[in-house]
Amino acid sequence: MPRSVKSSAPKKKLAPALAALLLAWYDRHRRQLPWRALPGERTPPYRVWLSEIMLQQTTVATVGPYFARFLERWPDVTALAAAPLDDVLHAWQGLGYYARARNLHACAQVVAREHGGNFPDTEEGLRALPGIGAYTAAAVAAIAFDRKAAPMDGNIERVVARVFAVRTPIPEAKPELQRLTSSIVPETRAGDFAQAAMDLGATICTPQKPKCVLCPWRDECLALKEGIAEQLPARKPKAAKPTRRGVAFWITRPDGAVLLRRRAEKGLLGGMMEVPSTEWRDAAWQQSDAEAAAPVAVRWKILPGIVRHSFTHFDLELQVFVGTTPGKKNINTDGVWVAIDALGTQALPTVMKKIIAFAIGGFPKR
Ligand code: ADE
Repeated sequence: MPRSVKSSAPKKKLAPALAALLLAWYDRHRRQLPWRALPGERTPPYRVWLSEIMLQQTTVATVGPYFARFLERWPDVTALAAAPLDDVLHAWQGLGYYARARNLHACAQVVAREHGGNFPDTEEGLRALPGIGAYTAAAVAAIAFDRKAAPMDGNIERVVARVFAVRTPIPEAKPELQRLTSSIVPETRAGDFAQAAMDLGATICTPQKPKCVLCPWRDECLALKEGIAEQLPARKPKAAKPTRRGVAFWITRPDGAVLLRRRAEKGLLGGMMEVPSTEWRDAAWQQSDAEAAAPVAVRWKILPGIVRHSFTHFDLELQVFVGTTPGKKNINTDGVWVAIDALGTQALPTVMKKIIAFAIGGFPKR
C-alpha cells in the first residue's frame, strides 16, 4: 500500500467543500424514507427517535412497516408512554433485542413525565434518557433539532475512513473517525449531512464494489486515489462465535395447551415468553441431565433434528424434548398454559417461534 496520508485534520477548505458536495448530492438523490421529512422540513423528534432506535438493529426495509404500525397505534410519545409494556414488546416482535423495546418504553415515560412530552434538544440532554447512547443522541440532536452533531454508524464510518484513507482498523479507528466526521459537519443542516452520509454509504460507498464514479466525493477521496477504497475500513479478524447448547421442553396438556414461561427481566430476551429450556451452555446435554432440568417429570420423546439460532455473541443449538402431562389440571409449575392457536398473542422472540414451528410444523397465525 502507498504511504498513509495524514488523516488527523482535513485541510482548511476541504471540510466546507466536502459538506457542500455531499449536501448538493443529497438534495438530488436522497432516499425517500417513511421517517424522513421533505426537503427543507424537519421530522418531529418522536419520529426521529423511534426510527433511529428501530434502525439500530435492522435494515431500512424491515423497519418501514414497524415504524408505520407504531405511529398509527402510538402517534406521539405520550401515547407510547401510556401503553402497557407488553403491548410494546409484542409490537416490537421481529425487530430483535427486546431490551431496546423496554428502554423505548422507559424513555417515552421519562419524556412524558419529566419533560412534558418534549424531547430534550441537546445531545447531552438526550444522552441522559434511557436507551439513548452516543449514536442516538447525536442522530436525534442533528436530525430533529439541527444541532451540530455527528452520529457515527457503520455507513458513516466507512465513508469517512475512505475519504480520508484511514488505515487504522476498526474499532481502534473509531475515535479518529469520529473526530474527522465532526470536523466536516457543517454549521447548518447537520441532520441532512448525517443522513446524506448514511445514504452515500448505503447506496454508493458500499462495502463491496463501491460506485465511485457516481460519488460526489470522488475527486476528494484519498482511498480512491490510492486504489484502496474497497479495503477500507480495515477490520481486525473476528473471533469465532461460540456455540451454546440446550434442550427445550415442548410440554402439552391433554387439552392441547402448551407450557410457556416468562424469562427473567434482566439478561438476554429479558421479560419475553419462552418455551422452557435447560440452561444454554458450551457442553452438549446428556438426556438424563436434561431431564433432571425439565420443569415437569414426564416421559419424553426427542424430536429428530436441531433448532439453530444466531445471537450476536453466540450461536445456539437446541434439541427439543416433547412430553405430555397426565391430567388436564394445572401441574405445579411456574409457567402459563397457552392454547396452541393463542400462541400468536404472546410476546415470543424469534428463537422461541423457531422452536414452536419445529415442534408443531409451523408457527400459528393469529
Ligand atoms: N440508518 C439509521 N438512521 C438512518 C437515517 N436517518 N436515514 C437513513 N438510514 C439510516
